[in-house]
Amino acid sequence: MIDATHVSRRYPRGITALADVSLSVEKGEFVFLTGPSGAGKSTLLRLLLREDVPTGGTLRVGGRDLARLSPGEVQSYRRTVGFVFQDFRLVPRRTVLENVTLVLRAMGVDAPAQRRRALQVLQAVGLEQRLESFPPELSGGEQQRIAIARALINDPHLVLADEPTGNLDPDLAWEVMQLFREMNTRGTTVVVATHDRELIRRLGRRTIRLDRGQVAGA
Ligand SMILES: Nc1ncnc2c1ncn2[C@@H]1O[C@H](COP(=O)(O)OP(=O)(O)OP(=O)(O)O)[C@@H](O)[C@H]1O
Ligand SMILES: [Mg+2]
Repeated sequence: MIDATHVSRRYPRGITALADVSLSVEKGEFVFLTGPSGAGKSTLLRLLLREDVPTGGTLRVGGRDLARLSPGEVQSYRRTVGFVFQDFRLVPRRTVLENVTLVLRAMGVDAPAQRRRALQVLQAVGLEQRLESFPPELSGGEQQRIAIARALINDPHLVLADEPTGNLDPDLAWEVMQLFREMNTRGTTVVVATHDRELIRRLGRRTIRLDRGQVAGA
């Protein structure tokens, strides 16, 4: 599913976020990405979402070199990926319903179907009663769960989550991981960046460790 060969991402002023990273993730796998702050986890996830491109090496998802997608292909590629950002990126002046159904609207799904599907994913994160709320009216953990619902609404082939449980209490964090796990048992490939050693230990999945932009263990 994911094949990184000698992937680098260098920034100006000599900053190297990723240096010669080679790794692969099989279709249907669930892997954790871990490592200290600044190790390159978010950078790698952003490359996988095709928000950014490597400055060296090749990153393939489903056999396709992400650096070679046309702008139109980038758009359709992103619709197959569910992404939970470290900073949520909810649209503050849109309701929860509008936030979670964004992708469905882009795909031309009709309004009743959007609402039905929104209710399903919001139920899964326990926030179906907040459909008409606006993100600033929600707590940090609630916003995080909305961001997760948004990532799952489209039944993506690949879910990328950047610290998806960072603002949640341990019970909620565990429930959210169960959601990812359920998606994974239905065939979705899942990559979760986290610092939470306890969560990693309890889930017992393969862990890829980054350190200063390099793979330090897999
Ligand atoms: N746009 C940018 N310009 C310059 N340097 C950047 C940029 N984005 C990230 N970096 C640098 O790249 C390195 C890796 O950052 P990244 O955000 O991937 O780390 P991380 O592993 O996600 O850390 P954290 O656990 O704190 O979220 C850091 O040293 C960071 O300062
Ligand atoms: Mg990060």
